[in-house]
Amino acid sequence: MTEQRVALVTGGARGIGADVCRRLHAQGRRVAIADLLTADAEALADELGGRGYACDVTDSERVRAVVAAIESDLGPVDILVNCAGFDRFVRFVDTDEDFWDTIIDINYKGTLRTCHAVLPGMMERGWGRIVNFASDAARVGSSLESVYAGAKAGVIGFTKTIARESVKRGVTCNVVCPGPTDTTLIREMGEQGELPAKIVAGLDRAMPIGRMAQPHEIAYGATVFTHDDATLITGQTLSVSGGLTMA
Ligand SMILES: NC(=O)c1ccc[n+]([C@@H]2O[C@H](COP(=O)([O-])OP(=O)(O)OC[C@H]3O[C@@H](n4cnc5c(N)ncnc54)[C@H](O)[C@@H]3O)[C@@H](O)[C@H]2O)c1
Repeated sequence: MTEQRVALVTGGARGIGADVCRRLHAQGRRVAIADLLTADAEALADELGGRGYACDVTDSERVRAVVAAIESDLGPVDILVNCAGFDRFVRFVDTDEDFWDTIIDINYKGTLRTCHAVLPGMMERGWGRIVNFASDAARVGSSLESVYAGAKAGVIGFTKTIARESVKRGVTCNVVCPGPTDTTLIREMGEQGELPAKIVAGLDRAMPIGRMAQPHEIAYGATVFTHDDATLITGQTLSVSGGLTMA
């Protein structure tokens, strides 16, 4: 892959997203990192010869401004990886509407915002790769993750639909569903009470492979979809979970 295509990774400052950035860079992509953690995004981008941007994916105006800035700094966005995500372990009966709004705004609407900002340009230029992060929680359910599972299931349905709408214009759209992965997100989720701590403590044992995934193992699955040759792989949902879910 010799062409220096531009890849925008949201949530690329740490965790799985950071390893997605590293893989894309290794494949010759110019990487733009958009994250709430501006300093971390800029530091990683510097290391990779890319650019970091302060971005909250719940802010439509900011998302549009970041896409415009990337276009002028690096060039049009050819590859979009929506990795920004957030969750907490809470029983559905204990959630309230503020929590629903937060989870849906980041995980579902955040994905809509970035896709809405880049998809028209990709379709016009006749080339694009979109990879949206959902979760195995969306595919099979996950105790204490009801709202998140619903928002991520929304990401799957949304991605399949834009895949249909854009495939004739050279754009592919796919979903990665990580299983439990050893990142700050899951560690912080485990610090929110006794039951969450118990769940996180049991995750290694719950995995057929006997351990949680490492971020780079998920990043591999995500970047498969961004390959230049992956022209006919679209509307797919790939679980990367070491055999935890197989259906
Ligand atoms: N870790 C897991 O076990 C797991 C499992 C299934 C799915 N996922 C999904 O994988 C993706 C990556 O998760 P991770 O485990 O690496 O998490 P993480 O918390 O380590 O990294 C998430 C990144 O997203 C950024 N982010 C969060 N909210 C944002 C916002 N509003 N705007 C911009 N950036 C924002 C954070 O600052 C952080 O850099 C997420 O979409 C998550 O839902 C993770």
